[in-house]
This record gives sequence, C-alpha cells and structure tokens, in this order.
Amino acid sequence: MARIKVDIDRRIGIINPSIYGGFIEHLGRCIYGGIYDESSPLSDERGFRKDVLGALKALRLPNLRYPGGNFVSGYHWQDGVGPKEKRPRKMEFAWHTVESNRFGTDEFIEYCRSLETEPFLCVNLGSGTPEEAAAWVEYCNGTEDSHYANMRKANGYPEPHNVKYWGLGNEMGGYWQICAKNAGDYAKIAVEAAKMMRWVDPTIKLIGCGFLEQVDPPSWNLEVVDKLAGFMDYISLHIYTGNSDYYTNVAGPVRAQRLIDVFNATITIAMAGKKAPRPEIAMDEWNVWYKTFGSELEEQYDLSDALTVAGFLNVMHRNCTTVTLSNLAQMVNVIAPIFTSPEGLFLQTIYHPFKVYRDHCHRIALDAFVDSSSYETRVVHEWSGAGNESPIETVPYLDVSATLNEHATELSLAVINRHKDEPIETEIHLGDFQPKRTALVYEINGSRVDVQNSFSEPDNVTTTEKRFEKAAGAFKYQFPAHSITLLKLARA
Ligand code: AHR
Repeated sequence: MARIKVDIDRRIGIINPSIYGGFIEHLGRCIYGGIYDESSPLSDERGFRKDVLGALKALRLPNLRYPGGNFVSGYHWQDGVGPKEKRPRKMEFAWHTVESNRFGTDEFIEYCRSLETEPFLCVNLGSGTPEEAAAWVEYCNGTEDSHYANMRKANGYPEPHNVKYWGLGNEMGGYWQICAKNAGDYAKIAVEAAKMMRWVDPTIKLIGCGFLEQVDPPSWNLEVVDKLAGFMDYISLHIYTGNSDYYTNVAGPVRAQRLIDVFNATITIAMAGKKAPRPEIAMDEWNVWYKTFGSELEEQYDLSDALTVAGFLNVMHRNCTTVTLSNLAQMVNVIAPIFTSPEGLFLQTIYHPFKVYRDHCHRIALDAFVDSSSYETRVVHEWSGAGNESPIETVPYLDVSATLNEHATELSLAVINRHKDEPIETEIHLGDFQPKRTALVYEINGSRVDVQNSFSEPDNVTTTEKRFEKAAGAFKYQFPAHSITLLKLARA
C-alpha cells in the first residue's frame, strides 16, 4: 500500500502563475495555418483562427513567448510591422523556409490582448544588434515623441504595447543557432543589449540564455550568470525530454529536476558575494519532443506523453521558489497541445493535464511525503542515444504535487500513477486538514499508454470529472494504472 502524507504547515513556497505560460514561433504551421490563417472561413477579420483562439483561451495562459525559438536569431522585427503588402518575404535560415512577415509584432500584441495574456518577446542576439533590440523596446513601450514610438503610432497603435518580458536571445550557445556564440561573446552582447533596452524602459524584465545540456557544461552558466549579474532577472532553462520506451519517457521530469539542481548550484556559485538580485529560472521552453524532426515538428502525443507533461508541472510546483516563469513549447501544431487542419482542430493528449493543473491547482506548494514502489531506469532523450544516459534513477510510480489555497480552505492533490499495468491503492493522510466527505476528481486516462487523440477520435485521452464520497482526514484511494488524478478537497 502506498502512502501520501500532507501537512499544510510544511510549505515549499508560492507557485508563480507565470509558470503556465505558452510559446509560439514562426515554425511550420504554428503561426501560419495555426493561430493565423487569413483565408480561412474559421478566422475572424484579423485572420485569427477563432477555434484556436478559443482552445488557447481556455488554458488561461498568463504569458505568451514569441517569435522564437531558433527563428528569432535571424529575425529583424521591422520586417514584420507596417502595411502587410510592403513587408518583405525573406529567406529564413532557422527552419529553411521563406517568411512572409504577414504576422508580426502588432498582430502578436493583438493576439495577446484577445487571449488576455502578457506578451513576452525574445530579441535577436544572433544576427541582430543591441541597438535593434532597444529599438524594438521603444517601438513597443515608448511614449515619447521619438522615431520608433512614432512608428508604432503611425501603424495604428497610439498607446504603448507595454511588453514586460524580453528574452535576451534564444539558445545562443547552441551550434544550430544562427550566429551562435561562446559564453563570453554572448555575455558581452547580452549586457550591452540589456543596458540599452533598460535605458528605453527600466521596468522591463529580462531573461538571459542559460546553458544547453547538448553542448555546454555548466561553465556556460557560471560565466553568463557572473557577467550578466544585475543585467537579467531570469536565466532560461530549455528542456525537452522523450523516449519511445514508456518507462523512460515518463521519467523525463526526473531529468528536469536534475537540471534545475544544476542551475541552482551554478547560480549560487556565480552570485556568491554579489549584491545584484539572484536571477530566477525561466523554463521558457519545455515539453515532450522526440518523434519528429525537420521543419514541421508535428508531434502526435499519446497518453504517456500526457503523464510526462503532468510530471513536469509537478517538478515546477516543487521548485516554485526558483522556477518562476515557464513556457510550454509550443502551443499550436508544432510540438503542441492543439492540432489544426483547415477544417477544425483537436486537442492532443497533453492539453488535458495542462488545463486541469491550470484550473485546479492552488498557489501554495506543499512538501508532500510520498511512499510508493518505484522502478529504475536511465533517463535518456531519444535523440541523444546510447552513451548519453543519466545514471540509474529510482523513479517512484506515484508522483505527487500538493497545493493549498491562500485561506487554507482548499487542497488539491495531483497524483500521477506511472505504473503501466497496475492501479495503486494509497493511504492518504491530511493531518490537520479535515476535508468535506465529497471531493471532486479530475482524471486523465485512456485505454493504453500509447493511445493518441486524432480528428476522428478526439477523446481517446480526455478528462473525466467525478465525485469521490469518502474523503476524510485519512482515507484510501486507488489511482488507476497510467493515469493522472487531481483530487480537489474542501475543508469541512
Ligand atoms: O521549440 C522548438 C525549438 O526548440 C526552438 O526553436 C528552439 O529554441 C529549441 O531548440
């Protein structure tokens, strides 16, 4: 019998809702044919696909990152503003296509306003310059009688866009990046960009590039955090996991925990003795991604991937004191929870845990005690292959996030049962929290771990809502095999 014990006084910290952010990039059918389709009868007068907007709106994203991704390292923002017929069609070197620029800054801001989400722009520190980055801040946030602020006004936006989050480049240490850099060169350009961007608007929040496990040892972080201390508010951590072996796949979030540990350690070392505030961690790209390559990345997700996404969210909750901003990469068609055709859309399996957590987890993360049987595996991303496995990890079948609301009147237990075949009977002890007998249950499951959703079978994996009538200070619950269960308890 497994055990979960919760003590509402054992608090880890406050979960920042900004961890439920999203990301859209000029890549494949994410923008064109995804969120934006000027010729579609499903679109509004601005070209925004209404069905996609509705599915995204339901996720209540607190922020949305744009325009890349790898794309941004060759992007010049001025190509994407002003009259559409005058915008240049340009060769695009990140994904090897031609960019029409018909969707740009102002369209993105309008999209964010429709979603009621905070825009998060990433600047080009590949082929771009600090001056160009500062000009973009001026275009978006400037209120003076100055060139770029006036350009925005002339384009029909008299009020500033007030963009709060700005990424200082994307994955600049990656060899695949346009104009990739070593840590020293990156730090130099990022400091100068940060200075100029803040001279335009001192209130903005800046996200520096963290190291990538594929190419750089933690020395990247040591140098970048050291040199950008005081010039960035966050350092980014990008993590994609995935493996076609089920148990390796659902252990992916263990890898995320290890990377967060490395980040915290390197930030602590690099910041020792400095007066500048400690940068927080922005997991501003995270997801399961291992099946698709090339320039489309139309990953089809199964139930196991949904369990992995829930595991990522549990990790973020448990690390809420250091991970305070995150972006699911990406949102539509490209490694995404929403998948479109010209005729409609369906929700991929990973949509469901994201929505259930967003809707039903609370702000205070609790340090739950979990005693569950476990398995051993080496965590390895499908692409890295043999030789790049982690050491053997012990992975508990049950993975739990316990969260409490501010008045301590509502408690949510998000429980993943990673066991492929067996339900797990569990004793749950809630200490001083005496719940009402009736708990609400949101269960995400499907007939097999490899079952997917599709246009013809959109609900193979979905969320089932039910009631559980035997909640008490101590009670038993059986978590079904390969499931995510959110138990929502109200204080009696
Ligand atoms: O999200 C897809 C790509 O993954 C992004 O463009 C890049 O930043 C990362 O490598």
